[in-house]
Amino acid sequence: MRIAKVTERISYIGVNDRRTALFENNWPIPYGVSYNSYIIKDEKNVLIDTVEYGSDGDFLCKIEAVLQGGSLDYLVVNHMEPDHSGMIRSVLAKYPQAKIIGNAKTFELMQKYYGISEENVMLVTDGQELSIGSGSLKFVFVPWVHWPETMVTLDVADSVLFSCDAFGGYGSLDGGIFDSDYNMDEMFLPEMRRYYSNIVAKYNQMVTRAITKLAGVPVKMIAPSHGVVWKENPAKVISLYSDWAASKAEEGVVIAYASMYGNTAGLADQIGAKLAECGIRNIRTYDVSRTNVSYILSDIMRYKGFILGTCAYNTFMHPMMEHLCNELRIMGPKGKVMGIFGTSGWNGAGAKALAKFAEEAKLNVVSPTVEAFGAPTAEKVNPSLEEFAKEFVQALKA
Ligand code: FEO
Repeated sequence: MRIAKVTERISYIGVNDRRTALFENNWPIPYGVSYNSYIIKDEKNVLIDTVEYGSDGDFLCKIEAVLQGGSLDYLVVNHMEPDHSGMIRSVLAKYPQAKIIGNAKTFELMQKYYGISEENVMLVTDGQELSIGSGSLKFVFVPWVHWPETMVTLDVADSVLFSCDAFGGYGSLDGGIFDSDYNMDEMFLPEMRRYYSNIVAKYNQMVTRAITKLAGVPVKMIAPSHGVVWKENPAKVISLYSDWAASKAEEGVVIAYASMYGNTAGLADQIGAKLAECGIRNIRTYDVSRTNVSYILSDIMRYKGFILGTCAYNTFMHPMMEHLCNELRIMGPKGKVMGIFGTSGWNGAGAKALAKFAEEAKLNVVSPTVEAFGAPTAEKVNPSLEEFAKEFVQALKA
């Protein structure tokens, strides 16, 4: 049973999940994920969020071990998604006197998911402070980071911000719980970026609004509900999230293609080589049938340009490219330079479908589209790669 001290008053009682293959049954998590939960011990004892139901058989024992016979007075529900709210009913069954703290939207959702009765709840308003003895809690609403009811909670005495999904990332906590316990560049930062692109990027505007709103809140530590507790360098994660929410991109281009027999793949490599000749660095090329869309989205978020290519498939684009396009439609990348290419036997249906997608998604597409009928030999590629590269590089550098 793992319990760690965050401060003298605050204990970490989260859990690592290395069993789930796909987070939200959608996103691969080869390094696992943590569901973080915390207890503040004061005159009133407070549980901050729970964990996914069934992810930790010891969760209730951990609460008991930290409380050492004391009562549980409050359970703060920052976010109702079941990876954090899944143990609410179990906690209430063991501590029926505990009041659940949330906002009006929290309780709408709680009714729908768990049928919690009103006598168990305490509604708070945005900015409200609640004394818990020597310290107090302050609640700040950050709607749509990542559901409508989401809020964060500040432990005022220790200046620890419990931020739930915000400032979180994929990856289990394999040793310590703090950023200072890891070389963050190795796994956590790339996995945070992927988490952000997969889960949070759709809500960029709301993230920016939340960060602005939290700017005046004095924070010494950020304790999210996924990933490390930012003790050494909380400014770092705020800066990263600010940049990602503002769609700041690095120099580079993602080329993602769907290919049945290698022709579209061949054209993808030719495009990559031509862009490199033109001085473009950091070109990442992915076969959408091989690399999960989660990783491709992360790199599309990271770099300034992306180029999608598909073979024609039943008078449309390849289904695996359609999957990527659907996720891009949801993510809504901003400020990108996009290119399109395709191969087909007779009518260019794949490239046409990509162009239609880009128009509907309001993406900034560079003309011309590169196409080849059959094998993409130099004489059949139209227009020439030189012509495409010239326009694309110009747009990238604009
Ligand atoms: Fe980690 Fe939106 O739940």
